[in-house]
Amino acid sequence: MKLCPRVRNSSYVIGVISIVLILGSLNVNVVECNKLDSIEYPAINCRKHNALLTDFGGVGDGKTSNTKAFESAISKLSQYASDGGAQLIVPPGKWLTGPFNLTSHFTLFLHKEAVLLASQIESEWPQLPVLPSYGRGRDAPGGRFSSLIFGANLTDVVITGQNGTIDGQGSYWWDKFHKQQLNLTRPYMIEIMYSDQIQISNLTLVNSPSWFVHPIYSSNIIIQGLTILAPVDSPNTDGIDPDSCTNTRIEDCYIVSGDDCVAVKSGWDQYGIKFRKPTEHLIIRRLTCISPDSAMIALGSEMSGGIQDVRVEDIVAINTESAIRIKTAIGRGGYVKNIFAKGMTLNTMKYVFWMTGSYGSHPDPGFDPKALPQITGINYKDVVAKNVTYSARLDGISNDPFTGICISNVTIQVSEQQKKPQWNCTDIVGVTSNVIPNPCPLLPQKEKINCPFPNDKLPIDNVQLKTCSLENVF
Ligand SMILES: *[C@@H]1O[C@H](CO)[C@@H](O)[C@H](O)[C@H]1NC(C)=O
Ligand SMILES: *[C@@H]1O[C@H](CO)[C@@H](O)[C@H](O)[C@H]1NC(C)=O
Ligand SMILES: *[C@@H]1O[C@H](CO)[C@@H](O)[C@H](O)[C@H]1NC(C)=O
Ligand SMILES: *[C@@H]1O[C@H](CO)[C@@H](O)[C@H](O)[C@H]1NC(C)=O
Ligand SMILES: *[C@@H]1O[C@H](CO)[C@@H](O)[C@H](O)[C@H]1NC(C)=O
Ligand SMILES: *[C@@H]1O[C@H](CO)[C@@H](O)[C@H](O)[C@H]1NC(C)=O
Ligand SMILES: *[C@@H]1O[C@H](CO)[C@@H](O)[C@H](O)[C@H]1NC(C)=O
Ligand SMILES: *[C@@H]1O[C@H](CO)[C@@H](O)[C@H](O)[C@H]1NC(C)=O
Repeated sequence: MKLCPRVRNSSYVIGVISIVLILGSLNVNVVECNKLDSIEYPAINCRKHNALLTDFGGVGDGKTSNTKAFESAISKLSQYASDGGAQLIVPPGKWLTGPFNLTSHFTLFLHKEAVLLASQIESEWPQLPVLPSYGRGRDAPGGRFSSLIFGANLTDVVITGQNGTIDGQGSYWWDKFHKQQLNLTRPYMIEIMYSDQIQISNLTLVNSPSWFVHPIYSSNIIIQGLTILAPVDSPNTDGIDPDSCTNTRIEDCYIVSGDDCVAVKSGWDQYGIKFRKPTEHLIIRRLTCISPDSAMIALGSEMSGGIQDVRVEDIVAINTESAIRIKTAIGRGGYVKNIFAKGMTLNTMKYVFWMTGSYGSHPDPGFDPKALPQITGINYKDVVAKNVTYSARLDGISNDPFTGICISNVTIQVSEQQKKPQWNCTDIVGVTSNVIPNPCPLLPQKEKINCPFPNDKLPIDNVQLKTCSLENVF
């Protein structure tokens, strides 16, 4: 990499405007260098102030802990929140770190050759209380470890950068999970809570201890261009889990994982019912997924705050257990309604369509057996699937059928060792049209039905990203 002269002031934080002014007075070489090293990237907001992790004592040797460097950098940069915001740049190198907390009006930018390595020293991971909509941890009843990158009660946060890498070094945690040695829930890689205006984009995320990206109780979220990779047998390595979030757009992500590529959630049984915060107005488009034992997109199983208005377009799954799967249970309460998906290309699937009303998995015996989930208005169309074992397994709940199911324009080519029946349906109500192979009697074929897909735009779709530039910083 070409090194350019770098100018800094005593506070180690330089406004872009002052860089431009100083460089303007220097010679042509600097300008050329400047051009060479100029990086442009899209973001919800650009920042006035920049700093490098190395300004705060960061060492990118893969061995030295950078927890303190991140902490002091972000603490310092938080002072610029009301003065144009600030950006922390992680240069090329391997940066070992424990968890750190983000701040508002802030961008974390990874150079393409930057790798964040998550610490495997448990004492470096702060403990957080359980999520109020879950009532307990997912791995253990008690509290939970902080995520590697954590933020709560923030506005306007960007995590991005040229496909740089965040490596959760999850094997330590997967091992403890398998040996049942966890008494706290494993960390997630990125968790943002109670926040507004979030962007997570253009990164490679590998080997999270558990879920990768977990926005919860938040709104106006753009997740774009993530490559998420974990071994297909790693435990609970969900890709992206929008959880009790409003207005979310997930685009152009490529996910290989040991659990659902995207899992849409909203709290668990009596805790989620009480918390009452749905996930709604969610767009998922151009997702590619490989997950042999899980779903491309799961709705639930934690859905007690409700899930509604989900719009899915142009998704591809290869060697994945199912395409979109609804998972729920007696005791969940809540609802999954107004779900729309069009354009699925699938290859090597156990089930194309899968709905499970008996998922079980309760936080504790205190769930209300009268809290029945309402599943209605589920619309799937324009599906081409190859090498499929079962076309559909659709199990509603007796005395609580899943209704308003519409499936149209579907061609499923079943695999050589095809199992019968192709469609296994109980406690569901709906229609189909132009579907091969012929669906179950509970979903009679009608002529010329085109299942609906909304035409209006959600507010999150109108958010335009600005072009930000980083000049002469590396
Ligand atoms: C991050 O903030 C939470 C509270 O919001 C706190 O409990 C936790 O210790 C902080 N994490 C770090 C690494 O400072
Ligand atoms: C964030 O805000 C929520 C809800 O307003 C509050 O309950 C919580 O204590 C705050 N959390 C932190 C870490 O500041
Ligand atoms: C990002 O990096 C991953 C892992 O190396 C790679 O597979 C992917 O193609 C890269 N994405 C882009 C857009 O360069
Ligand atoms: C948590 O588990 C470890 C063993 O994995 C054990 O040493 C420790 O005492 C436990 N802590 C609590 C609070 O139970
Ligand atoms: C980030 O990814 C988007 C596509 O998701 C692409 O259009 C954009 O150019 C990328 N930006 C950078 C800086 O790589
Ligand atoms: C078809 O699916 C089976 C698993 O059901 C898999 O073993 C096989 O490799 C797939 N064939 C092709 C051509 O993808
Ligand atoms: C049916 O689905 C295919 C594959 O997605 C698509 O190309 C075609 O346009 C759809 N047909 C209609 C009538 O919408
Ligand atoms: C159909 O699904 C039911 C559960 O709803 C299951 O008990 C049954 O074994 C399935 N039938 C076949 C033939 O797979």
